[in-house]
Amino acid sequence: MKNLLSLEKLPLADIEKILRDAVIYKRERARVDRKPLAGQTWALIFSKSSTRTRVSFETGIRELGAGVMFLNSNDVQLGRGEPIKDTARVLGRMVHGAVIRTFAQSDVEEFAEFSNIPTINALTDDEHPCQILADIFTYKELRGPIAGKVVAFIGDGGCNVPRSWIFAASKLQFELRIAAPKKFQPAREILERAGGKIIGTESLEKAAKGADLLYTDVWVSMGKEAESAERLKVLKDYQINQKLTKLAKADALVMHCLPAHRGQEIDEETFEKNARTIFAQAENRLHVQKAILGWAVTK
Ligand code: CP
Ligand code: NVA
Repeated sequence: MKNLLSLEKLPLADIEKILRDAVIYKRERARVDRKPLAGQTWALIFSKSSTRTRVSFETGIRELGAGVMFLNSNDVQLGRGEPIKDTARVLGRMVHGAVIRTFAQSDVEEFAEFSNIPTINALTDDEHPCQILADIFTYKELRGPIAGKVVAFIGDGGCNVPRSWIFAASKLQFELRIAAPKKFQPAREILERAGGKIIGTESLEKAAKGADLLYTDVWVSMGKEAESAERLKVLKDYQINQKLTKLAKADALVMHCLPAHRGQEIDEETFEKNARTIFAQAENRLHVQKAILGWAVTK
């Protein structure tokens, strides 16, 4: 039994295994005899909105042979203040695994500790590991190995998605450049903890020049809505657009974890020109998460 709580804590060998298995899950999706979750029941416990993560996990869990229940945290006693550790000890006696989307990273960690069932982080304020594993899978699928490549993240460099990219960069040995205004740079302490070849810069040009992959995420993450006006103002230049893509390599990919806000972190033209990649990225959440689920239930 294993947990996927963060990319920071996920060993390289496990990342490589998940990425390898995902190739097979994708290629052989129609095969009905691969059901490592047969006879199980899994719970999705979400305190934030979701389209891709919810649908891909619900579909993936069913395809791997298990039943699945979706629990909005407001509908269960968690929303009325029942402690995580009590919820975890109850669910741990009833279901075989949990996929959690919430605010504090410590809540997912506490759930894993007390439930004693495989627990998967489906996004916290700190990390979005399943997303970045699917993104790297997509890069490899379209362009080959990511080691030695240059990934430029443009936008809010302090949120969960770039943080998972930071921990992936040092493990998978690609260069990561994060272009963000000073206020939305990743914390120095995180960069130091990760090691590897990562730079934070306020210069869009410096980040995008010669990049193999341009990547962005929303300017206003879930839970940050009160800061919307300020974020839209401060981040207004940190957009992937046609001008910026010209600085990257001619065959550079443009990715977005979605949902996209056209006219903010990406312009309409660039989004639509790269829609094939972006929606392949979304589809790959399913295949990669099936690999994660299969990995999580093995000894
Ligand atoms: N990218 C992503 O996690 O999308 P959802 O918020 O729709 O799950
Ligand atoms: N940083 C975004 C990711 C959405 C998938 C958020 O947390 O809302």
